[in-house]
Amino acid sequence: MSFIELEGVCKCYGPRRVLRNVNLSVERGEFVSIVGCSASGKTTLLSIASGLRQADHGSVSIGGKALAGFPRQAAIVFQSYSLLPWFTAFENVRLAVEAAFPDWTVARRNEKTEAALRMVGLGQAMAKRPSQLSGGMRQRVAIARAFAVDPEILFLDEPFGALDALTRATLQQELARLCQVAERPVTVVAITNNVDEAIVLSDRIFALSKGPEATLGTAIPVSLPRPRTAATVLHDEQAVRIRVKIAQYLTSHSSKPALHGRPEAIPSRALALEVEA
Ligand SMILES: Nc1ncnc2c1ncn2[C@@H]1O[C@H](COP(=O)(O)OP(=O)(O)OP(=O)(O)O)[C@@H](O)[C@H]1O
Ligand SMILES: [Mg+2]
Repeated sequence: MSFIELEGVCKCYGPRRVLRNVNLSVERGEFVSIVGCSASGKTTLLSIASGLRQADHGSVSIGGKALAGFPRQAAIVFQSYSLLPWFTAFENVRLAVEAAFPDWTVARRNEKTEAALRMVGLGQAMAKRPSQLSGGMRQRVAIARAFAVDPEILFLDEPFGALDALTRATLQQELARLCQVAERPVTVVAITNNVDEAIVLSDRIFALSKGPEATLGTAIPVSLPRPRTAATVLHDEQAVRIRVKIAQYLTSHSSKPALHGRPEAIPSRALALEVEA
């Protein structure tokens, strides 16, 4: 059995069935991305995988145990920065450290908080409130907060979706580095609507078909050597094949073409960009 296992997951909102028979296995230490169109059910799937929401049918287990609520050893980063506006960057991160390590001394917690913020390059901005930070800096705080609790599992819901392309590329690199230098192996389940982001970061990618009744395709492994960057994957042959596979899955499992055309008619540049609604 895999570390994280979803079997036959279905979810309805009223009469609308959003997810149908979703199966997902994630190994310990793996970085898995789920790509899909807007409103296909990605957030619903991540909230079920992280125990924030319950499936109507099917099962979710982590470490061989049925999931009951958000796991203690996990952290989550949302697309919206979800920082407390009246707290500084330091206080936002320290709150999570306090909850994760209640037995630690204040000095040790402060040290951990500071180290996490320095890791994401915010050593000089710790005393600033979210309103005084740029979007990229706020998302850095959210990432620092997630890593500050030494998570075993990291759930990411389009964490860079609201950022410009350059900041997004920088943060992708920082995320990859943080996963590598983390104190213990981090298992990551990330949602993105950006295929190249998935290729840069993941060991395996799953495409979620367009809803309603969205379901996951088979795993697409990414064996490109690391470190990877947006530039190195742009013209890589394997990356091109992966983009085509994802586009084919999304178009063949959609009631209307997800990428406005047949897979072979889609210019490769379009596939490098974000999956359209
Ligand atoms: N709490 C809810 N009650 C009713 N319908 C919901 C609820 N949450 C989501 N939905 C609907 O379920 C579908 C999937 O929503 P979800 O947020 O999971 O999609 P998504 O792929 O994350 O979308 P996006 O790309 O915009 O983030 C949408 O049609 C949405 O309107
Ligand atoms: Mg979403």
